[in-house]
Amino acid sequence: MITNEEKIELENLYQKYLHDPKILKMKEIGMHRGSNSYIHSFKVCKLAIRRAIRKRKKVDLEAILIASILHDYYLYDWRLDHSLKKKHGRRHPFIAAKNAKRDFNISDFVSDIIESHMWPLNFKHFQKTKEARIVGNADNSIALREALTSRKYKNKRNEKTLKFIENLFN
Ligand SMILES: [Fe+2]
Ligand SMILES: [Fe+2]
Repeated sequence: MITNEEKIELENLYQKYLHDPKILKMKEIGMHRGSNSYIHSFKVCKLAIRRAIRKRKKVDLEAILIASILHDYYLYDWRLDHSLKKKHGRRHPFIAAKNAKRDFNISDFVSDIIESHMWPLNFKHFQKTKEARIVGNADNSIALREALTSRKYKNKRNEKTLKFIENLFN
């Protein structure tokens, strides 16, 4: 359960990230099937928050929100550089966490969620907390959905998705 005040606080925080010029740069980073890093991350955030609220146990919603928005904040296009392509899957969580620390001064708790979001690919970095598992699972669900959609209607779909991510709660 979540109170109205908590909802308003989370929505405000979400809006702050949504319009942050540094975060807007993620729109230039391409992703699966015509999506981009910006759209992808806010979709992961909405799903993670929705699932977290449904849980009976108390979880740190603010950490989930920040970690899911920044989990892919690596800021380079791995598809343009062959040397990056091979290592991207394993390496990008650490680059994202480092960038997020530099630009948003995130806590170690949030950083840990970001670093472990590719578990079990990064086998040693397993998801120790409920929050990390929620973000990791939401990321998998969204990535799978993105992989299953066709590139054909990409512009129309991205328009719709941009509307969808305009608010955290809608
Ligand atoms: Fe990722
Ligand atoms: Fe992701």
